Amino acid sequence: MDRPIVVASNRGPVTFERDPLGNPTQRRGVGGLVTAVSGALRGREGIWIASAVTDEDRRVAGSGPVDVDLAGAMLHVRMVDVPPDTFRASVDGFSNRVLWFVHHYLWDPPRTPTFGDQENEAWDAYQDMNRRFAEAVAEAAPDGGTAVIQDYHLALVPQLLRKLRPDLAIGLFWHIPFAQPDYLSLLSDEWARGLLDGMLGADILGFQTDRWLRSFLACTRQILGIKPRDRILVAGGRTVRASTYPIGVNPEHLTEIAAEPAVKVARAGLEEWLGDRKLVLRVDRTELSKNILRGLRAYELLLERRPELRGRVVHLALLQPSRRSVPEYRDYIDECVAAAARVNDRFGPEAVRLEISDDFPRSLAAYTLYDVLVVNPVFDGMNLVAREGPCLNRRGGVLVLSRNAGASVELAPASLLVNPVDVDQTARAISDALDMPEEERQERARKLRRLARGRSPGKWLDAQLRDLEQRRP
Ligand code: G6P
Repeated sequence: MDRPIVVASNRGPVTFERDPLGNPTQRRGVGGLVTAVSGALRGREGIWIASAVTDEDRRVAGSGPVDVDLAGAMLHVRMVDVPPDTFRASVDGFSNRVLWFVHHYLWDPPRTPTFGDQENEAWDAYQDMNRRFAEAVAEAAPDGGTAVIQDYHLALVPQLLRKLRPDLAIGLFWHIPFAQPDYLSLLSDEWARGLLDGMLGADILGFQTDRWLRSFLACTRQILGIKPRDRILVAGGRTVRASTYPIGVNPEHLTEIAAEPAVKVARAGLEEWLGDRKLVLRVDRTELSKNILRGLRAYELLLERRPELRGRVVHLALLQPSRRSVPEYRDYIDECVAAAARVNDRFGPEAVRLEISDDFPRSLAAYTLYDVLVVNPVFDGMNLVAREGPCLNRRGGVLVLSRNAGASVELAPASLLVNPVDVDQTARAISDALDMPEEERQERARKLRRLARGRSPGKWLDAQLRDLEQRRP
């Protein structure tokens, strides 16, 4: 177990850039995966294989592995330099426009999707990128080592890697939901079968919750005709185990970073701006699955129905820019901005404040201050905002949570659950949260803090490594 483990994911823990003066700089990668996996590697040595995303990354990729000390994890980062056109087609064209959409149920079948040459080329690029990753892992992994492959960008890696390095124990962790078979069957047969076969190259397949795991098993049954027995699947003469490993957070670490000066400054700024108004907060990537539009609509409905709240409540939406090269995302952000402007036109200049920026300290500061946190994704593998917020909040804040977020499995007893497409119900939940008597708020917040930590990222990874050791080929 002392050999460094090899992690592979599209998005790495850091991305390299040049500042306007031409000096090299390094920025933390975005998204739940990076948060979870970097947390999991604290106090360990790991080789992390990730895509070169920026020009600077590509330069770094050319000069070999880089050592990065990220929040106590000693990481040797190797960047895979996928040719830019292939990278764009694979990540934007296939992973984010096809796989992300299918697993989060983001299509509108009477109109979308329509598959043609562009998507077929994207699939070719996806296979090419997965091959390159499999080769990079094969080259980096120590003899008899362990590789933990992350997420939907790299679903084909397990099978390809097994051919190159049969000595490795291979895990694949799926961070996002998994679609039901009828919806997955919107993909061409070649893609759907290719994905499932690729995944089945692993020794262990990990999911965030039972719901996604069951969908996966239903897909292997319907599409590949493989029947699981006790969550063990037999494929190509080998057995593969599917399990759930829900990711939690590390509240001690969060509290440490929330005590940093940048967070304190951000908090003072927010407090001054807020005054004695109540804060309804959301923190998300600018992401269709996060359901930002319906969240804004629910808030609008609240102010429509309860005029006495106007000017006394404010909705702050802190949105991290994401996937701006994908047209659906650009359109969605425009719609969110227009919806916020409409609410402000109707109910006062600052009923809603929508900030599109990458400001982690500001998000942490806002977590400490909210009265209501809205986490209403259409579908979400886990959702770490729902865990991080309650760990840091000090105001007895109430969590309004989508029943389709993986986090709802553990957090349901202490939050107000909503059906994310039901804006009327969401508006009522925010209203109830604002009216909740102090004692009940505090009681719920205490309970929520206990539940929100879940299994720390370190333990999340340990559990997978233990299971992989047992199944080592
Ligand atoms: C989710 C996915 C990650 C992805 C992240 C950010 O957390 O599970 O794999 O990296 O979103 O998305 P992006 O497209 O910016 O990498």
